[in-house]
Amino acid sequence: MSSSLVSVAYIGAIILFILSLGGLSNPESSRRGNLYGMVGMLLAVLATVFGPRVTMDGLPWILGALLVGGSVGLYAARKVQMTQMPELVALMHSMVGLAACLVGFANYIDPTAALNLSSAEKAIHEIEVYLGILIGAVTFSGSLIAFGKLSGKIGGKPLLLPGRHWLNLLGLLIVIVSGYQFLHAETIHMGMLALAVMTVIALLFGIHMVMAIGGADMPVVVSMLNSYSGWAAAATGFMLNNDLLIVTGALVGSSGAILSYIMCRAMNRNFISVIAGGFGTGGGSPAKSGGDAQPEGEVVPISAAETAELLDSAKSVIIVPGYGMAVAQAQHAVNELTQLLREKGVNVRFGIHPVAGRMPGHMNVLLAEAKVPYDIVMEMDEVNADFPDTDVAIVIGANDIVNPAAQEVPGSPIAGMPVLEVWKARTSIVMKRSMASGYAGVENPLFYKENNRMLFGDAKKVIEEVIKSLQH
Ligand code: TAP
Repeated sequence: MSSSLVSVAYIGAIILFILSLGGLSNPESSRRGNLYGMVGMLLAVLATVFGPRVTMDGLPWILGALLVGGSVGLYAARKVQMTQMPELVALMHSMVGLAACLVGFANYIDPTAALNLSSAEKAIHEIEVYLGILIGAVTFSGSLIAFGKLSGKIGGKPLLLPGRHWLNLLGLLIVIVSGYQFLHAETIHMGMLALAVMTVIALLFGIHMVMAIGGADMPVVVSMLNSYSGWAAAATGFMLNNDLLIVTGALVGSSGAILSYIMCRAMNRNFISVIAGGFGTGGGSPAKSGGDAQPEGEVVPISAAETAELLDSAKSVIIVPGYGMAVAQAQHAVNELTQLLREKGVNVRFGIHPVAGRMPGHMNVLLAEAKVPYDIVMEMDEVNADFPDTDVAIVIGANDIVNPAAQEVPGSPIAGMPVLEVWKARTSIVMKRSMASGYAGVENPLFYKENNRMLFGDAKKVIEEVIKSLQH
């Protein structure tokens, strides 16, 4: 394939990636968006592998690597549960970071990489290598820790080392000094030494940064690492002189940064204070069920049959799904309940919190999979004002996103986070298995409110029981 044909293919791939991002912004167009992304990636890989820069000798290596990587990816994608998706994404981000580091080191010791470069060009090339490895190492270790935290292998409690900001500052100073030594190194060995020192510091910084972040801020961290992985890919693109990688990395980097900002706004958090860490499980003083800080009021259980009666006489219902709906795989039962109620003339709508579940768009994906009509799936801001005019608000496996403590308890770790105000409905019914707290580990006063009822049990099972009672 000639280099001009490769350029045309790259431009085609870039356009497809941009269309893909546009498509993913809406559930209705997200399938198409995914398809654009897949075709774009296929085009990019084919053009690169069969382009002029890959020699015949290199081809078997690349095809072998494609086979191994593709098989691992296929296996992981088929095996992973929807609820484990953020962990998988974190693990994949770590791979991008590792790749950037390895490409950086290989590029530095490759005698042909800086051949025929003027001294200014050589300095720019070395800065690219240095920054590429720096971003890659932070992304690699940070994403591995995020994977550990999301999968529960590492506790969600923030690790707050004494003088942690000073430690970070010291790390930054060492990185700057090493950078100076790297750029002025007289031999490859001295350069490698400076690179190695910086890499160790960057790896430690990645670990420290994510360890200091509490459970409740993890969504922002995942999208932030997503952004870093994009910049790491862009840096790799600079090192390899690959325009497509630079543009794709910049697209991922900037969209990840925008998503982090949107999520911070959704949780009423300041981006800098998220990075600085210390909020979340263990960061505040989350009350355990039955602990001293137990809210006033009484927990009133309700049966599936009583729930069905309430729903039968309701005119308007808002369903608020959360992480528990994903765990119970209750989305199909939820759709069946929705259809049944709509056939009875009930106005049913869904209220979706921006950080419901464990990844952006988690609930939208599940509801789309169950074929819930898009036009009744509303964002938090679209339905929040309607709760006072709603007969029944059904909370399905959600907890933090409907926690009134965010508004009522000033010292609460989730104070100020916008929530779905389900308690303002005439009756709210919470479906969950126990009185356990949600992801942020905070006690939920909703369960003790006078107009709230608890329907205990696995979400899928209890919804099926409610459907059965409604049909009789
Ligand atoms: P959570 O606050 O985590 O609450 C989920 C509730 O579901 C739990 O209290 C649990 O109670 C219940 N549950 C679990 N399995 C269930 C089952 N089989 N049937 C019925 N209920 C079940 O979830 P949320 O309200 O969706 O809030 C999301 C939280 O996750 C926020 O704190 C958010 O910051 C965080 N987070 C979000 C993301 C993104 S990007 N969305 C990523 C990481 C973290 P029981 O154990 O009593 O059943």
